[in-house]
Formats: sequence, structure tokens, C-alpha cells
Amino acid sequence: MTSRVRVGIAGTGCYAPERVLTNQDCAKLVDTSDEWIVQRTGIRERRFAADGQATSDMCVRAARRALEAARVSPEEIDLVVVGTLTPDYLLPSCSCLVQNQLGCKNAGAFDVAAACTGFLTALHTGEAFIAAGRAKRVLVIGAETLSRFLDWEDRTSCILFGDGAGAAVLVPLEERAQGEILKTTLGADGSSFDLIHMRGGGSLVPPTHDSVDRKEHFIRLKGRDVFRFAVTKMAELIESMAEGHSYEEIGLIVPHQVNGRIIEAAMERVGWPLDKAMINIDRYGNTSAASVPIALDEAVRQGRLKPGQLLISVAFGAGLTWGGTLVRW
Ligand code: UT7
Repeated sequence: MTSRVRVGIAGTGCYAPERVLTNQDCAKLVDTSDEWIVQRTGIRERRFAADGQATSDMCVRAARRALEAARVSPEEIDLVVVGTLTPDYLLPSCSCLVQNQLGCKNAGAFDVAAACTGFLTALHTGEAFIAAGRAKRVLVIGAETLSRFLDWEDRTSCILFGDGAGAAVLVPLEERAQGEILKTTLGADGSSFDLIHMRGGGSLVPPTHDSVDRKEHFIRLKGRDVFRFAVTKMAELIESMAEGHSYEEIGLIVPHQVNGRIIEAAMERVGWPLDKAMINIDRYGNTSAASVPIALDEAVRQGRLKPGQLLISVAFGAGLTWGGTLVRW
């Protein structure tokens, strides 16, 4: 029996499109206000992709930064995994477009569909491939162009989301890794599939004039129910990742940037100060699968993680799905 390979993160990168939509801009489109959005969500602005720019384009930009940080060439990558709920096409996968544009000519490629848990699902998949000796260097990405799926007549959802991408290069620990992935968990509860839902566009409700007229190609959510679930699940995930470690060992929590109040309430439940959490929702909104890797990359580049410290990342989203990771930096 071959022994399990220890897996590390060699480099991270992110990309957010240039176009900024402030809360004041939102208030011109829908009945809302900067004050309401800031108080209820912590969001001040979000980035939207330019016309003609899609998810693969943002993946490529984030991935180039991660590859550069990792000092790994595209040819050295043997697997590309993209977590997204907004791929360029239903067919083929976003990861194949990314593989081609980056020149990862020795890589396999597939997408994972786990909504806001998409990046952690991609990370865990990459980690498992390397740990089992099935791949050596894996590029994992979380990216979304949610702006294309927002109903600007539904103020409860349209103000929440933004576009962007984040990436990480995973390698065997001995190969220039910055941090070792120590623990991972994934979970799901499909009985609540309708809490965050896009009804149209799939095999059950294919696109038709009627489905477009009924506005079935937009994201719908039951915000209050998600809120309750999110606080409990986020606190549970943090506690389970931290189990066996002291408070002092934990350097930083990188949570899914779902809502500033949800992060605050979860940290309060765990009994930790808010400054132990990386928060950038004010500048990006909720970028779903991109939120964790964008926050992680910003934290790394800001030097918020010191060597030896533990990093906990947690996410949850439509499905319902959830995931947690513990990394020794
Ligand atoms: O990543 C997973 C996807 N994310 C989510 O599913 C979001 C999770 N949920 C949330 O973040 C929060 O529930 C929201 C931010 C969506 C809503 O915040 P809330 O504190 O739960 O507000 P609420 O739904 O209880 O609504 C309170 C009031 C309502 O008015 P009434 O019924 O009290 O008169 C809403 O109609 O706020 C109203 N409202 C708004 N007012 C101004 C809802 N959206 C807006 C808005 N601007 N954009």
C-alpha cells in the first residue's frame, strides 16, 4: 500500500473585474438604500464583469496570479478543477476553457457544482487526487459571474452578489508549499434545495420564451431561512475544524463572504473576536464560489498569516452544501 501524500498550497491568486457597482448605483435600479444594504449585509460595493467577459476569463486571470505565486508553469499542472455555478456554457465545462487558455496541456479538467461551497469542494477534490498519488499539481479555482443571473426587480437578492475569481495551486508538501492542508470536511442536505435556487435553464425547465417571461433564469432565495442556517452551520464548521487546537494556534478564519452579520453572529457563537476573521464583503459582495479564494488571496498578500499559524476556511451555499478546511501555514 502506498502512503498518503501530504498536500500543500503553493500559491494563491485572485481577480475582480474593474466595473464597480456601489449601493447608490443599486438604489437607482431598485427600491433600496445604501443605509439598508450596509446595515443588513455589510456590503458597500460589488464588482460586475464587463460585457462579453465571462467566468472562464476571470478564472484565467486569477489562475495566472496563483501559478506565478506558486512558481509552477501551466505545463506542470495535471488537473484543473473549477467550482462555479455560472460557467460560460452548460457544455463544455468552464475548466476545459480555462485549461486551454492557460496552456495546461498535460491536465485533465472538470467543474464541480457546489455553489458557494464550490472552491472548498474543488480544493478538497484536488487535495484528494494528490494525496492518493493520482495527480501531482492541481489548479483549483472558484469563480462566478452572478451579475448575469440577478433580477433587478427582486431587491431581496439583487443587491447581494458580485463577480470575481480566486485560485490556488496545490502540490505535494515537499514542493515549495506555503501551507499544509490538515483537515477537510464536506456536507450536503438536498432536502433544502429550494432555499437558494435557479429554476430555469436545466433539464427540468429548459429555456423557452415562457420560462424567460416567468423570470425563471434568475437566482431566488429565502434569505431569512438561509440566514438562520448559515449562522449555525458556520459556527459548527469553525468549531469542528478547530477541535484539538488552542485558540492561540488559530491565526485566521476565512469564511464565505455571505453577509457581514452572519459572520459576526457565527464568530460571537464561537466566542472569538471578529478581527480573527477575514472580511472583505464590503468591497465585493457575495461572490459565491469566488468568495473564499478571493478573501484567502487577499489575506495571504496582506501578510495576515504567519508561518506555523492555523487557517480555518468555511463555506456553505445552495444545495444545501457546506465545507470546512484546516491549513497549517
Ligand atoms: O451565499 C448564500 C446566498 N445568500 C443568501 O441566501 C443570503 C442570506 N440571507 C441574508 O443575507 C439576509 O437574510 C438578507 C440580507 C437577504 C435580508 O436581510 P434580513 O435582515 O433577513 O431582512 P428581511 O428579509 O427580514 O427583510 C426585512 C425588511 C423587509 O421589509 P418588511 O417586510 O419588514 O416591511 C424586506 O422587504 O427589509 C426589506 N428588504 C429591503 N429593504 C431595502 C429586503 N431587501 C431590501 C433591500 N432594500 N434590498
